[in-house]
Amino acid sequence: MVTASAPGKLILMGEHAVVFGQPAIALAIDLRLICTIVPSASFSVNGEPLSDRQHSYVLAALRIAWDSSPVSIQINSGLPSGSGLGSSAAVTVATLAALSGLNGDYEEEVVARNGFEVESVVQGRASPIDTSTCTHGRGILIGNSPGPDLLWHIEKDEREWYVHNCEVPEMDIVVGYTGIIGRTGPLVAKVKRFADRSRFGMEIIEEIGQLTTEGLRMLRTGDKVGLGELMTRNQKLLAILGVSSPALNKLIRASLPHSYGAKLTGAGGGGSMIALTDRPADVCEAIRKRGGVPYVVRTGARGVTLSD
Ligand code: PMV
Repeated sequence: MVTASAPGKLILMGEHAVVFGQPAIALAIDLRLICTIVPSASFSVNGEPLSDRQHSYVLAALRIAWDSSPVSIQINSGLPSGSGLGSSAAVTVATLAALSGLNGDYEEEVVARNGFEVESVVQGRASPIDTSTCTHGRGILIGNSPGPDLLWHIEKDEREWYVHNCEVPEMDIVVGYTGIIGRTGPLVAKVKRFADRSRFGMEIIEEIGQLTTEGLRMLRTGDKVGLGELMTRNQKLLAILGVSSPALNKLIRASLPHSYGAKLTGAGGGGSMIALTDRPADVCEAIRKRGGVPYVVRTGARGVTLSD
């Protein structure tokens, strides 16, 4: 038997633009998903027969990284599914890590690379940001050129990403979950259509990349006011790309009077928003009043861990 525990993540800045090779910053959070795998007579997930429809990420992980006898997989998630907090990456990474633990050949980089392949197969198009963050933990900076603290370099379909460890101060961040499942694949495809059809779409994506680079500087110097402003500007650009939603806008508007800045996190469409604040109780109350579910999460969580 092997158990793997993977953290959720939030994208601080740069989602969607990262799919086009722009920089992005993601932070692992202290909500985790646990996956336990034991050899068995047949393949199952939480007691149900393995199915493509219900267990697409687990099935893709098995196809990529397992050619051995059947296993029974138990998944317990502390991450709301479809919340934009990385539940699909956490399920993918925890499954891959537990499988390699059973094989006795766990390697962080292999899990991160295979995790990206799994997300690409299931979502149709992806960046390595979620799976690299769930694997490595702490903070991840994805850039379009190599820099200090490079972890790995991933290429696909003429796009490439340099994945770096990003040392950032630990912070409490308020997450507001809309309760609406955001579907990453169709949202990523929508942004691609926009960018393919108009130069304006591509300019928005490049501008998000520039904001993210500035945001990294603010993050490292601990300038919350500057970082918050950039997050709010990032949100405006995401709204132009068409990935925000009325429910997200409502929670963001409600949080802003008590925050340095706020934006959606992850794919959008529904899912969650984040607020950078020194007044988490006030932000949680504002989110609750507008029908959202607030969580105060701590960043800087450990990456995937294995135990027997
Ligand atoms: O699946 P989510 O909600 O964590 O969003 C992933 C971030 C995107 O940039 C929208 C897609 C990607 O693969 O990078």
